[in-house]
Amino acid sequence: QKLDMELAAIEKGGFDHFMLKEIFEQPTTIHDCLRGRLDADKGTITMSGISKYAEQLTNANRIVMVACGTSWHAGLVAEYIFEELCRINVEVEYASEFRYRNPVIAPGDVILAISQSGETADTLVAIENAKKQGAIIMGIVNVVGSSIARLSDTGAYTHAGPEIGVASTKAFTGQLAVLTMVALKVALEKGTITHERFLQLVRELNAIPEKVAKILEQNDAIKALAEKYKDATNCLYLGRGYNFPVALEGALKLKEISYIHAEGYPAAEMKHGPIALVDSELPVIFIATKDSYHEKVISNMQEIKARKGRVVAIINEGDKQSIALADDVIVVPETDEILAPMLNCIPLQLLAYHIGVAKGFDVDKPRNLAKSVTVE
Ligand code: G6P
Repeated sequence: QKLDMELAAIEKGGFDHFMLKEIFEQPTTIHDCLRGRLDADKGTITMSGISKYAEQLTNANRIVMVACGTSWHAGLVAEYIFEELCRINVEVEYASEFRYRNPVIAPGDVILAISQSGETADTLVAIENAKKQGAIIMGIVNVVGSSIARLSDTGAYTHAGPEIGVASTKAFTGQLAVLTMVALKVALEKGTITHERFLQLVRELNAIPEKVAKILEQNDAIKALAEKYKDATNCLYLGRGYNFPVALEGALKLKEISYIHAEGYPAAEMKHGPIALVDSELPVIFIATKDSYHEKVISNMQEIKARKGRVVAIINEGDKQSIALADDVIVVPETDEILAPMLNCIPLQLLAYHIGVAKGFDVDKPRNLAKSVTVE
């Protein structure tokens, strides 16, 4: 027993929980994911699995992303990125829905399965079905040699290392890094991105690990915020554009490990329902970093403030408008808007973690949840 406890402590590398260890590993895991692929000096991205299918990807009629849970959120971010950079029509599907409807799969469709474990039953069967109908299957998978990896025609590993905490953290940022590289490669090949913009994004992507490390330095401040908000019974997460999926992921993390009811919404859509929930008790987390949606997000923040909601905003340095409106802010480094989700999810992971711990829950093994759902 004592030996077991000591072993567990060693495995956690000095952290109290696997989840915290894995959150803190992200500068390394994102770097590992980029390493050997992205060369910022030469301005190149090398991914053999993608190059092999370059023609099918560049000529794809549409890309269908199929996934569950956090991996589905990575697919949503990728939808925005692929449509912007590659001008390919993208659909993001819950694997459990996709497998049971009778989806129309046409020649030239590429199915992109996203999965940490590579064993999620719904995702696996969804791609099995699509494969039978002639679709090309690409796997974005973390676990090497897993069922989804084996079934895929091609793909790319996320190289995030083993993820033990049930709530996915480092696998998510790994998925975003891989999906961004794939999109950049396809865009360059297709000619839907200028070489200059490609180089700019390559350089920015290369700088992401150190920016993640900067955010992690704020762990103590985020822990203090967790203390302040831990007794909330509901919580709303709002973002637009690339940050809308980040809002969904932030809400999912909170639900999973702190058992606080949370919803993520596109910030403007809150007028069509969630705004009815806003009172002086409700924390509303805005993902409000500077991007092409920023002014719109600010006006949504004003609407929440006018109804006395408690606003927490994830912002960039010097954002006076947000600072004036928000009760609390978390400042993250600036990056290109396309890459911002990789940074903006980090404080939300930490916030959920610290709230879960403050409430005395087992954050590594939340009730009723499994790391990998291999049955329906
Ligand atoms: C479970 C896990 C989630 C994960 C989802 C999809 O629900 O608890 O963290 O996002 O499955 O798993 P996958 O391994 O396919 O990414």
